[in-house]
Amino acid sequence: MASPRVVSLLFVVALVSYSATAAVAQICQQIPDAICGRQIVDNIFHNIGNLTETCCDALLRLGEECHNTLVERRIAAGGYEKDVVNVIERSFGAWKGCSSLDSCRKLTDATCGSQIVQNVFHNKGNVTEDCCGVLLKKGKRCHTVLVGERIIAGGFEKNATKVIRASAALWDKCSIPGA
Ligand SMILES: *[C@@H]1O[C@H](CO)[C@@H](O)[C@H](O)[C@H]1NC(C)=O
Ligand SMILES: *[C@@H]1O[C@H](CO)[C@@H](O)[C@H](O)[C@H]1NC(C)=O
Ligand SMILES: *[C@@H]1O[C@H](CO)[C@@H](O)[C@H](O)[C@H]1NC(C)=O
Repeated sequence: MASPRVVSLLFVVALVSYSATAAVAQICQQIPDAICGRQIVDNIFHNIGNLTETCCDALLRLGEECHNTLVERRIAAGGYEKDVVNVIERSFGAWKGCSSLDSCRKLTDATCGSQIVQNVFHNKGNVTEDCCGVLLKKGKRCHTVLVGERIIAGGFEKNATKVIRASAALWDKCSIPGA
């Protein structure tokens, strides 16, 4: 296992060679941290490992155009001649996988799921510390999207605003200790 310093240096080198142009800087604002950068590069270019939810979020924050451009630059720089088709496939796959709701649902724990639904949608009960942990691990994006999906599915037309308020309040309560 490389030390964090080496990993971060590798990532910076990788990034500098593919993204340090004005054109890329313009479309890429939120570059992932070294750990996620490495994970994304490993997954797409070396077919190693999967992206964690945190790194999926980092990937999505890049935006699709930036993501595609970074991959394109890295391919163009050379060294992946034998595997370009697979690299492109994995690049699209990573984007799709991270944006899909499946990756959010996969993280749902039945007990905590029901606690969260009762709290947010029915104004009943509190969410335990353990379930706050599960919620935070899912990430803000998954929380927002799953709540939105349930609202869209119907039955909350009259109190959707209340539900959204409760959803935001629960996130804050879980993410800000003591709040
Ligand atoms: C990555 O995810 C795929 C599909 O979800 C799974 O089949 C595979 O075992 C995972 N690989 C690792 C290294 O976790
Ligand atoms: C919203 O309305 C639904 C359906 O009438 C009800 O079951 C639910 O408890 C309400 N939720 C809140 C937070 O008021
Ligand atoms: C939920 O928490 C509030 C304050 O944090 C407390 O007053 C209330 O009794 C709790 N409700 C349940 C059902 O535990």
